[in-house]
Amino acid sequence: MSVRIQTPEVIEVEEELDRSLRPRRLEDFVGQASLKEQLAVAIEAASARGEAMDHVLLAGPPGLGKTSLAQIVAQALDVPFVQTAGPALERKGDVAAFLTALEPRSVFFVDEIHRLPRALEETFYPAMEDRQLPITVGQGAGARVVTLDLPPFTLVGATTRAGLLTTPLRDRFGIQARLEHYAPSELAAIVRRSADILGIEIDERGALAIAARARATPRVANRLLRRVRDFAEVRAGGVVTEEAAAEALALLEVDAEGLDRLDREILAAVCEKFAGGPVGLSTLAVAVSEEQDTIEDVYEPYLLQKGLLKRTPRGRVATPAAFRHLGLDPPEQALF
Ligand SMILES: Nc1ncnc2c1ncn2[C@@H]1O[C@H](COP(=O)(O)OP(=O)(O)OP(=O)(O)O)[C@@H](O)[C@H]1O
Ligand SMILES: [Mg+2]
Repeated sequence: MSVRIQTPEVIEVEEELDRSLRPRRLEDFVGQASLKEQLAVAIEAASARGEAMDHVLLAGPPGLGKTSLAQIVAQALDVPFVQTAGPALERKGDVAAFLTALEPRSVFFVDEIHRLPRALEETFYPAMEDRQLPITVGQGAGARVVTLDLPPFTLVGATTRAGLLTTPLRDRFGIQARLEHYAPSELAAIVRRSADILGIEIDERGALAIAARARATPRVANRLLRRVRDFAEVRAGGVVTEEAAAEALALLEVDAEGLDRLDREILAAVCEKFAGGPVGLSTLAVAVSEEQDTIEDVYEPYLLQKGLLKRTPRGRVATPAAFRHLGLDPPEQALF
């Protein structure tokens, strides 16, 4: 399993998997208890008043359920779900086209909202606050500003990097939440639910074995489940047991901590090539031939959470646990 094999077919299969396994209702969404409670209250209050719900900002690493939650909110409010992404909005006119066409109370989902062009962020301020969209018509001396009234709507923004949003934009979201990594028991519940939907036979220990190695991420758990299923069908009589899971995951080069090959390459680069660090992100990216964004968004959060890597002002530093994980002796002197 590596995020690196992203041929169009792989991406398509994964998107299809995401869709078929996506929880449709808040009750089916596992974990994130306090966020779910917050959303449930907001949904109920908005529905009772017949108004658009507050704007919601969902932050967190990939695959933790941001898109799923946005769709669940629309479904629960019984309103249309309109979706776009930060990089797809280039001009003010793009934003205007979406916002003016919304049915009242719709959920307008902007994925990767941190990649919205800076100039467009300002377009969102009055839209979010006063449902107004000032646009300039005409050119040169004849140009004038016309303010369009917008239908009430709920903006749901998703981001893997809340830190990149400007404060004025962030402040305009009434509900701001950071999705947390999932506990093994929660991931096991997600694996069991997915197995049910996909018609996969799995026992409790099999579910826990996958959960333990899923980088605390539902999407990874689902992906591993599918790969383990293939293995179980061909080599282990069709049932996903602890043994079948362990063997399949070993074949996939996922280790006991849930680290995959690139995780280990990153750690190995920091520990060996850079003597434990500190090493800058761009240098590290070159060393493992991967995009900086991928390392920062996909890999690093889990390595940080596992206590294998630390971020310091001077760069990334490997912890003694990282050295030990790779079977190396940690340096005698602390690196940070
Ligand atoms: N809490 C959850 N309960 C059950 N399944 C979940 C949960 N969170 C995520 N999933 C599963 O993981 C998959 C990925 O979730 P989703 O697409 O919502 O993540 P995301 O945060 O939007 O990721 P990205 O940042 O890559 O867009 C979903 O298809 C769903 O099957
Ligand atoms: Mg998403």
